Amino acid sequence: MASTLAVFRLHMKGRGSLVKCLRKVHTFLHRSIGTNVAAHGEELRKDKTVSEEKRGWKPLHAVEAERQEQADRSVLISFQTRTDKQTFLKYLSKHGPVNKYFFYENNGPYAVVEFESRESVASLLKGAAITSINDESVVPFKSRLLSVKGLGSSNSPKQQKGYNYQPLNPIPMNELLQRLSRENSIDQQMILLTDLHQLTDENSRLRYLVCSLVKDVAAAYFPECTIKPFGSSVNGFGKMGCDLDMILDLDGITGRNTMMPRSGLFFEYQMKSASSERAVTQNILSVIAASVEQFGAGCVAVQKILKARCPLVKFTHQPSGFQCDLTANNRMALKSTELLYLYGELDPRVRFLVFSVRCWARSQSITKSVSGTWITNFSLTVMVLFFLQKRNPSIIPTLDHLRDLAGPADKNVIEGNDCTFVSDISKIQLQSNTETLEQLLREFFLFYSTFSFMNESINIRKGKEQNKPEPTPMHIQNPFETSLNVSKNVNAAQLERFVALCQESAWLLEHKGTLKPEHVGGSIPQPWGFANLLVPTRNAQIMSRKKRRQEDHNGIIKVLLDSLKHS
Ligand code: GTP
Ligand code: MG
Repeated sequence: MASTLAVFRLHMKGRGSLVKCLRKVHTFLHRSIGTNVAAHGEELRKDKTVSEEKRGWKPLHAVEAERQEQADRSVLISFQTRTDKQTFLKYLSKHGPVNKYFFYENNGPYAVVEFESRESVASLLKGAAITSINDESVVPFKSRLLSVKGLGSSNSPKQQKGYNYQPLNPIPMNELLQRLSRENSIDQQMILLTDLHQLTDENSRLRYLVCSLVKDVAAAYFPECTIKPFGSSVNGFGKMGCDLDMILDLDGITGRNTMMPRSGLFFEYQMKSASSERAVTQNILSVIAASVEQFGAGCVAVQKILKARCPLVKFTHQPSGFQCDLTANNRMALKSTELLYLYGELDPRVRFLVFSVRCWARSQSITKSVSGTWITNFSLTVMVLFFLQKRNPSIIPTLDHLRDLAGPADKNVIEGNDCTFVSDISKIQLQSNTETLEQLLREFFLFYSTFSFMNESINIRKGKEQNKPEPTPMHIQNPFETSLNVSKNVNAAQLERFVALCQESAWLLEHKGTLKPEHVGGSIPQPWGFANLLVPTRNAQIMSRKKRRQEDHNGIIKVLLDSLKHS
């Protein structure tokens, strides 16, 4: 990500705000989803290419491998606030050196503890007892989700305060509005929003740990399987509290990655076959769902949704509070996760704008936490990418261009669909675009206020509008399965509302000013700039502003006609 800073020219007024903004970018980078960021002020210099700044950058698969390995050496422990912290940590370190630990609260306190080696985990588990409940029988499935019992307890408030709980959820909206309204520019507001919303390092570790715990259940059937997070948990656009999309990866077993010996004798596994690949996926997810439900400690509300286009199992992981969606054989989703991650790494403005637009859409109820006839976060992200490709000069390249830069090792065809794109970020040259976040935000709203949704399709492969191939209200071409429409679910009313809110927001930025108003000392700041756009707009307000805009136009026309009359 450090690479991307080079092309990002911050628009700032005055040296004080420059320093403040740089500090925020620095903090932001350090909270990023696990990339090793070398963020130095000097790296914000202009006119460098991605290749000049590639040091320290890690492709997604490298980030994932590191995180998975850490998760496999970790345990999740529920404890009581009266548990003495020092005794607790001392007891843990008896099993081996602890690399990292942190605490969080979710209906009670929890500790995530990462040991230096897996042997320490094995040693801790060996010493753990099995609950004896008089009236109930327990399923004797041992996992790395543990509870502390009978450890030296203390009621001293001083010791209880020693636990510094990491947040799991985003800050409440009213607090967010106040924090944003204290900033000095819209650029700074958008950077702060991203900093407050994006997943923390701890949250990212916990997500990988939950996948690793679920893998232990699935491993009862498939010992070589892995369970990986995908979607916003790892693509760089995840907001605190977002769902946890996970995929059961059986590629190590299915033969997809194995080489057949060319000569000599060899043995082959005898395996059962099913009527189709989809049927295999459904059968596997069905038994894993049953195991998660019966044996998965902390996993509740398990639902099998196996008839969906992409079969999945939904459940809640109670200790973390994560809403989990488990799929299998979904390599296309892994590719789109990798693509979004790459785009987010190319220029920091991509993430700032995506976070801001996603937050705006959520606060205006354009997107919702459940699926329906409204725009999804994934569609919205693709819309932002398309808009950034359409800037002049463009901020990010088209997918076709990324495919053209790909090397032989990047070649990837899934079910006949070309999913090839470059993985080496240093091969990507960006154009020199100097637009500020404020300009981009305003232009985003103007762009979609006037976009011809009726006739045109959004296409990030070409970076150009294409003729709409079907009469749905909205058409966003699926980047890899190009015959599919990502926004097929969106109905006309939802699209109309989105366009009206884009017009409304462009109008607010134009008419309500983009400069911070003076505040009376100590008073709660009034929302302004970007914060103003997050205040939910009622439909009646949109209508009345529409009318006002119409009146503005009528007024202009009247003045023009009058001036013609009098000339
Ligand atoms: P949030 O969960 O809302 O934070 O965003 P998300 O990006 O994780 O979206 P979601 O959980 O709905 O989907 C998870 C991932 O599945 C996305 O990031 C995409 O990679 C993929 N995905 C979701 N919807 C579609 C779709 O309509 N088409 C394609 N090709 N992929 C999708
Ligand atoms: Mg998701």
